[in-house]
Amino acid sequence: MKKVFVTRQIPDVGIKMLKQKGYQVKVSPYDRVIKKRELVRELKKGYDALFCLLTDKIDGKIMDVGLPRLKVIANYAVGFDNIDLNAAKERKLIITNTPSDQVNESVAEHVISLMFTLAHRVVEADNFTRAGKYKGWQPDLFIGQNLMNKTMGIIGLGRIGKATVRRAQGMDMTVIYHDLYRDREFEKKSKAKFVSKADLLKKSDFISLNVPLLDSTRHLMSTKEFKQMKKTAFIINTARGPVVDELALVKALTKGEIAGAGLDVYECEPLIDCNPRDHYELRKMNNVIMTPHTASATIEAREAMATVAAKNIIAALSGRRPPNQVKFK
Ligand code: DGY
Repeated sequence: MKKVFVTRQIPDVGIKMLKQKGYQVKVSPYDRVIKKRELVRELKKGYDALFCLLTDKIDGKIMDVGLPRLKVIANYAVGFDNIDLNAAKERKLIITNTPSDQVNESVAEHVISLMFTLAHRVVEADNFTRAGKYKGWQPDLFIGQNLMNKTMGIIGLGRIGKATVRRAQGMDMTVIYHDLYRDREFEKKSKAKFVSKADLLKKSDFISLNVPLLDSTRHLMSTKEFKQMKKTAFIINTARGPVVDELALVKALTKGEIAGAGLDVYECEPLIDCNPRDHYELRKMNNVIMTPHTASATIEAREAMATVAAKNIIAALSGRRPPNQVKFK
């Protein structure tokens, strides 16, 4: 009988699919990130598939514990920077991820909600109102800005980037994008305009990062890039924390080089500041809004992720190519 180990409880729909296939499924009993030694202990028992989360660091040593029985590692996330792909390639392991329309829509909606919240200063105004400070209407109270006719710059025109373009255009924003690859078909359909990274930084009022974390995208936004942005512009990161150089971001915000930030991911996640003993600046800033890596936390997205991951495992263990097999370089 094929055996699957799941490192944390995920929506039942995925577990059911695996069980219906006749697999023996064990879910980690802990309601937290599984510890390395716990995962090692479990994998030693022999599993055909490991169903893991982005919070599990899967390196060559972990893979070796599962071998030779282990065939597939199914990540319950679109991003797979938690898995050592070189190690997986050397060991001929199959790695899969969970892209889906539901995740794209959820993350794109989250980008828009961060943008709205910043533009209309919703969190500041909410805190003020709750604190009983509202004493009557004032013409200059929490002046924000309209999104209409503003320019949205998308860095990374993958599935989530494209879903974000559609939403921004629905709000009458001008959309420009930058990516390694120019997508002329999409440009025709959407009227989004391809620009250089420098132009995007210079022209955008809101910049959304929608790239995977790769060596080439680590610190894609750093001191130089923040200096190129408008002083009135906002940066939004729902991709991966290390895409932004956090220290450079804190400096740019402190010096007023940019207007604010909407963050769902953090460079030293789950820490909000990489260097918490020295500074908690991000948390103190009114022009920064933060969510705890929840851009894809909708029922629809989480269930789709569970279904997609289960399908990937079933395909791999049936000798078929999984629908979302990660390509090795
Ligand atoms: C992903 O899928 O990569 C998100 O960051 C978590 O759902």
